[in-house]
Amino acid sequence: MNKTDLKETARNLVSDSKGILAMDESFPTIKKRFEKLNIEDTEKNRQIYRDLLVTAPDLNKYISGAILFDETIKQQTLSGQSFPDFLNSINIIPGIKVDAGAKPFSCHPGEKITEGLDGLDSRMKNYYSLGARFAKWRAVINISEENNLPSDASLIANANALARYASICQENNIVPIVEPEVLMDGDHPIELTLEKTSKTLSIVFDHLNFLDVYLEGIILKPSMVIEGVNCPKKNDSKMIASSTIKCLAENVPQDVPGIAFLSGGQSDDDATNNLNEMNIQSQDNNWKLTFSYGRALQQAAMTFWSGKDENIESAKKIVMERAKVNSLAAAGKLS
Ligand code: 13P
Repeated sequence: MNKTDLKETARNLVSDSKGILAMDESFPTIKKRFEKLNIEDTEKNRQIYRDLLVTAPDLNKYISGAILFDETIKQQTLSGQSFPDFLNSINIIPGIKVDAGAKPFSCHPGEKITEGLDGLDSRMKNYYSLGARFAKWRAVINISEENNLPSDASLIANANALARYASICQENNIVPIVEPEVLMDGDHPIELTLEKTSKTLSIVFDHLNFLDVYLEGIILKPSMVIEGVNCPKKNDSKMIASSTIKCLAENVPQDVPGIAFLSGGQSDDDATNNLNEMNIQSQDNNWKLTFSYGRALQQAAMTFWSGKDENIESAKKIVMERAKVNSLAAAGKLS
């Protein structure tokens, strides 16, 4: 493990108010998103769409890294360069999703465990040779007041898998993005999200410490502390920001250089405004607060493109605009 390289990559991913473009949708996820827009789910269309994203004008002013899917890291851009080579040429760090998805967790109905540890070390070596310098693994945590979820079992199993993954990443000089996503599904109030997200993060850091993961060489990718989508009581950005910062301040060691949020199904504006408010409120912490959004960066552009060549140039501008406002939010400077 080269700690100097890991620390430098982690810092570069979150510096200068830049954020990360999550463009690593698995085959089933991209298919679902394309089908909603009547876009045929072919390898060519996935290539055209992801080329559109990375060639958006001025993307590198706002984006530090891009998380690729296995197919994309081995694919070429339309101009014939590999995606990692193209990203490096514009000073964006190539990353790779390495988990194999969240699967039903045995004996725990309603909960999931993320798979993908088998053979991970050799896949990681291959991804490094293809240009990846950071990786992503997403654990999914479900809140249900009625069923008393999440169970301790699912928190411990998922935290252990995240820590095993992070350790394998660092052994291969790849910065792990540690992503425990507490889902927004349900009708629970924000106070319960705060309690369960705190517990989740506390267990995740226990396991990272048990396995001697080098905290200065990771990025945490959490969900924000928000009420369930079906909760009748909605909270404003100030409340979401103060709850999220409280949760992070109590559970995330200051050695962690950066926290890059997922958008998790929030509207584009909510994802941006909440990040902005957090950066206004969080002055006392060492970590940078930025974004690693998928839908909140891409969805508007994908919808505008809708598989039509004549929409590509305008769709690129939409991606760029989304990246720009989120970069302003990462500086707390959105007006
Ligand atoms: P969303 O921002 O759409 O939640 O995606 C982020 C991500 O990478 C999920 O793993």
